[in-house]
Amino acid sequence: MPEVAIEEARRFMEESLQSVGTPAQQAKDHAALLLHADMTGHFSHGLNRLELYINDIRSGATDAKAQPVVLKQKGATAWVDGCDGLGATVGNFCMDLAIKKAKEVGVGWVAAKRCNHFGMAGWWAEKAKSEGLIGMAFTNTSPILVPTRAKQSALGTNPLAMSAPAKNGDFLSVDMASTAVAVGKIEVQIHKGEPIPDGWALGPDGKPTNDAQVAFKTGRLLPLGGFEQTSGYKGYGLSAMVEAFCSGLSGSNSTHNIRSWALKSDEGSPNLGQCFVAIDPECFAPCFGERMADCLQHWRNMEPVDPSLPVLAPGDKERINEEKTKKKGTITYAPNQILHCNELAKKLNIKPIQVL
Ligand SMILES: NC(=O)c1ccc[n+]([C@@H]2O[C@H](COP(=O)([O-])OP(=O)(O)OC[C@H]3O[C@@H](n4cnc5c(N)ncnc54)[C@H](O)[C@@H]3O)[C@@H](O)[C@H]2O)c1
Repeated sequence: MPEVAIEEARRFMEESLQSVGTPAQQAKDHAALLLHADMTGHFSHGLNRLELYINDIRSGATDAKAQPVVLKQKGATAWVDGCDGLGATVGNFCMDLAIKKAKEVGVGWVAAKRCNHFGMAGWWAEKAKSEGLIGMAFTNTSPILVPTRAKQSALGTNPLAMSAPAKNGDFLSVDMASTAVAVGKIEVQIHKGEPIPDGWALGPDGKPTNDAQVAFKTGRLLPLGGFEQTSGYKGYGLSAMVEAFCSGLSGSNSTHNIRSWALKSDEGSPNLGQCFVAIDPECFAPCFGERMADCLQHWRNMEPVDPSLPVLAPGDKERINEEKTKKKGTITYAPNQILHCNELAKKLNIKPIQVL
């Protein structure tokens, strides 16, 4: 499998973005977001998505030079216009503002309209965690989630993320789509030529499918929990909650009005809604970090059913992957990913990605 040095992957992402007019700082911020996905093992949200962002910049759906503006603010809250800027530009602006407010008044709650795809929701929640705060981040997406009992999609994979600091640098990080799986997991099954498990998706006839290609083309994912019998309505409920925080508060498109996100799409701004929250735990009972550390350690020390599969705390998988990647100094990409990058490099007239 091809190995690429971390800094080379970063260089490739930054140069690709800059080649279509993204200013250096915005390209650097967006590359950091994508690189984090690859380093934590969420390959669907890293280099794999680069061309989609490039396409959005080229088609004018994303204004890579745009800077968000505050439309209204009061105490802990702010309403922001993302101005169709890059995901990382708007994410940094909004979470920095939420952090500032949390440090001043205990809580910061920022909702933004006219946003673009912001990658892993957890990246944004962890930004607040790194400042000693609890962070939360939410976004709506293109419609792909079939509400319980419906035949067609209306909500999105609408992810929710929450991260909290614990003593001695430990942390909790919950970061998940509100569908049974993120679309990227279906793409992975297609690449492997394998079927998808029960409870992931419906086919065009509204009946469950195990065919990854059919599921991907049809775009009707079941909510987290699957069918009604297995409490899929709870995932539907979580997706609806994200919708309220994102389009409800910001005035962006509701998910059922958002265009699809695909290569060659030229349907203009998706006008996504996003929401960023920071909370200062110091405003509540003393010793939050100690209690979080105690919970995390208690869960990890539980006896596993299978001794080769230790109990994890939410966020451990990503943390462990990131530590391993940093130690190795390289990222292992699928051969197809490198081929795509070489084609992209030709189109953008930049240096191809160097494989070790
Ligand atoms: N921007 C968007 O439009 C968008 C949409 C959907 C998903 N996403 C992102 O895609 C990424 C993947 O989402 P997903 O739903 O496939 O995540 P996932 O199913 O891989 O993980 C979900 C959560 O479960 C935790 N987890 C995994 N295995 C665990 C275990 N054995 N024990 C305890 N906790 C465990 C993970 O640490 C994570 O917090 C996320 O970063 C999400 O934000 C983004």
